Amino acid sequence: MKNKSEIIAFPDLKQAGRRDLKAPAPTRVASSSPSQKLLAWAKGKSYCLQTSGCQANVRDSEILSAYLENLKMRKEEDPLISDLVLFNTCAVRENAEVKIYGELGRLKKSAEDNPEKIIGICGCMAQEEKPMRFIKDNFPYVKLVFGIHNLDSIYTLLDACLTDEKRIFDVPSKQGEIVEGMPSLRFDKYKAFVNIMYGCDNFCTYCIVPYTRGRQRSRKIEDVVAEVNCLKAEGYKEVTLLGQNVNAYGFDLKDGVTSFSNLLEAVAKTGIDRVRFMTSHPAYFTEDVFKVMASYPNIMPALHLPLQSGSDKVLKRMNRHYDQTKYLALVKLLRSYIPDIYLSTDIIVGFPNETEEDFEETLKVCREVGYDNAFTFIYSPRDGTPAAIFPDGVSKEEKSKRFMALKDEIDKEATAAALKEVGKTVEVLFDSVSKKNDEMISGYSRHNRLVHVKSDSSLIGQIRKVKILESHTYSLIGELLDE
Ligand code: SAH
Ligand code: SF4
Ligand code: F3S
Repeated sequence: MKNKSEIIAFPDLKQAGRRDLKAPAPTRVASSSPSQKLLAWAKGKSYCLQTSGCQANVRDSEILSAYLENLKMRKEEDPLISDLVLFNTCAVRENAEVKIYGELGRLKKSAEDNPEKIIGICGCMAQEEKPMRFIKDNFPYVKLVFGIHNLDSIYTLLDACLTDEKRIFDVPSKQGEIVEGMPSLRFDKYKAFVNIMYGCDNFCTYCIVPYTRGRQRSRKIEDVVAEVNCLKAEGYKEVTLLGQNVNAYGFDLKDGVTSFSNLLEAVAKTGIDRVRFMTSHPAYFTEDVFKVMASYPNIMPALHLPLQSGSDKVLKRMNRHYDQTKYLALVKLLRSYIPDIYLSTDIIVGFPNETEEDFEETLKVCREVGYDNAFTFIYSPRDGTPAAIFPDGVSKEEKSKRFMALKDEIDKEATAAALKEVGKTVEVLFDSVSKKNDEMISGYSRHNRLVHVKSDSSLIGQIRKVKILESHTYSLIGELLDE
């Protein structure tokens, strides 16, 4: 077992939170090829890549997979029998981290039995100081830790792991660059994620993402459009444009013209069948985006618009830059352009010192908006963020009670919204055989509703008309209409 550590760079949250925004972030083109030694090692070996967190992490895993497949390594689902295990981790809430410790514990014996086994951690959790100190001290068989900003160093890092008798920690805490030209092995054949920007400069007080993913860096419109055109040519039917705050797209380029509405329009003009985007930020949303959404039928009528809280006091302490009135006005404006928009949201309950009245304001906004879906979370303090040291007199029990009440309200609204779909004809892009019943296939409607129909897998990858017969809270059952 290796017990010495080579620390090339150890995570430093203070450093990671610094911003020098005078000039746009530099762009770099990745180039790395494996050494003969690495290729020889990889021959006949297997890798297991486990991904948690958001779509940004999924996209990073597609890149890591390509690097590993280029070594001709075999993909393996079971980490216990894999020669290389990589955890691409999330840091947004504590439970994401606890799961990783559990996974690592489960691998202890297989790591001890096979001293050649390489277990590595990357992703957002790798960018955090305390968890990495914990891993360094408690999991000696984790041999490799690297960060968000050096995915394309994976060959050099693996080489170092093979050569040195030391564990490698290389987690640069920098603002980040735009790295173009990394290889990628997409996990889906018909739907693709396309990064339009990296990082985040919002510093919502509860959130670790600006520290783990660095400053906001927008890709050039032409690079995004070129990627979408390639995907279309390869037969992709849907792209989801990804950014932590897509409405701030282009701000960092400081050219006075690049904006999210320009980009969205340019992507819609490629003629790809379906365009989605996430995540939107209510404070930065501008009417021109609604205009573009309403003008192009290939931009899907669905929007994820995180509320976080309905209380003005809490929103202020969260540093969200909008209040309840502004949020509700935005929803009203949106519905004036796209009346049947599918609206989903994220909500945090139990933010430090959230009062019962604050929580009631959140419920009030939910009732008023009537979300089609909502992702709800209990606040989880993140080391290094401002809110982690806010005083908090609200008990765990109270937070759980509010969480359950919110969940009930959301389920009620979602059930009612889904019921309204019964009898309608919707277009579905089928993407898989149903998980619960292999005689059914599943896909998403334009409004992002999960739809199951009885059919065989030959329709996967096609967009077909479906009549909705039955609704559940978060899925619909329908029948195919003849074309
Ligand atoms: N950039 C996106 C999403 C970021 S993380 C946005 O701004 O909406 C996804 C969601 O996780 C957030 O919307 C928030 O609801 C939740 N989240 C983030 N930090 C959290 C924390 N410390 N505790 C609980 N939930 C959190
Ligand atoms: Fe986190 Fe706020 Fe940035 Fe979203 S906008 S990633 S919640 S800091
Ligand atoms: Fe995503 Fe989790 Fe990082 S939500 S940005 S993988 S902290």
